[in-house]
Amino acid sequence: MKVLGIETSCDETGIAIYDEQQGLIAHRLFSQIKMHADYGGVVPELASRDHILKTLPLIKEALNDASLTLQDIDAIAYTAGPGLVGALLVGASIGRSLAYSLGVPALGVHHMEGHLLAPMLEEERPGFPFLALLVSGGHSQIIKVSSFGDYELLGESIDDAAGEAFDKTGKLLGLDYPAGVALSKLAEKGDPSTFTFPRPMTNRPGFDFSFSGLKTATANAIYKIEQEKGQLDEQDRANIARCFQDAIVDTLIIKVRRALKETKLKRLVVAGGVSANTKLRNDLRELMNKRDGQVFYPRTEFCTDNGAMIAYAGFCRLKLGQTSDLAIKVRPRWPMIELKNT
Ligand code: KG4
Ligand code: ZN
Repeated sequence: MKVLGIETSCDETGIAIYDEQQGLIAHRLFSQIKMHADYGGVVPELASRDHILKTLPLIKEALNDASLTLQDIDAIAYTAGPGLVGALLVGASIGRSLAYSLGVPALGVHHMEGHLLAPMLEEERPGFPFLALLVSGGHSQIIKVSSFGDYELLGESIDDAAGEAFDKTGKLLGLDYPAGVALSKLAEKGDPSTFTFPRPMTNRPGFDFSFSGLKTATANAIYKIEQEKGQLDEQDRANIARCFQDAIVDTLIIKVRRALKETKLKRLVVAGGVSANTKLRNDLRELMNKRDGQVFYPRTEFCTDNGAMIAYAGFCRLKLGQTSDLAIKVRPRWPMIELKNT
């Protein structure tokens, strides 16, 4: 079975082809980041319009890369949610109608399940059960994954997601949207002993996160420096970036450690845009080494949004016989625990 995957939930148009025998055989990505950077965040209407322009040409390119034609495609998987409604509708309309015209099944895929399963595209794949830390621009969640489709939400952010906190703090430091990568680069030159930012909610039981207070603490530190000396110099910016990153990574580590202890799981999967963060990856690797466990990540390019994870998640469900009906339906809000494996 060859599955064409289409991802258009936010600001990346991702297209990929997953083959049951050969694995991933093509993937193409167009990022709209430059277009949205001027506005300091994603402009939904611009995102939808750009997906309209890019989706079909990228499908053609992916088919060319794999030396296939549309007639070789056995099923189409598209992101049906969660995400921006207009952006989702572009991928869903194209995916659903293309499948209809080809006479093949189509399936609306959950974007976060795509992120969750992205490490399965690597050579070293996790087996079930495992604990998952999903950290993206829109979500921060700890999930107990007993088997495919059996997801128990243990904790999540009650306000900003981890990626959102990186982006908002980066903005305060004058970095372009999305600021995660640039902020972690800036942090490399920072001194970790200069500021002590809070590790929110770590002294309370449970696995929920809160990151909005951390953003306020950073804003206050910036304000204080501005009051004292007019503006931040390069070293101040690096110090704040370093201490902010340390605080957010520590917070995630504390909650993950707690969840590992409670669930007694030995395998950890980390996915979503923030899983590309080097400090988080290194610290989690150290944690799992100490616990005699294993940690699994997607390759860096599949941490952020992409079509490969949608083609793969779609393949897993299509293989179980799941399909979507002819209606073009999207769910901008869609709790992952509503997913079933049958
Ligand atoms: O998964 P993703 O592409 O989109 C959503 O589904 O939300 O995640 C994007 C988020 C952005 O907030 C971005 O700043 C963050 O991931 N991000 C990072 C890094 N790379 C991307 N955050 C911290 N460190 C990074 N290296
Ligand atoms: Zn995502």
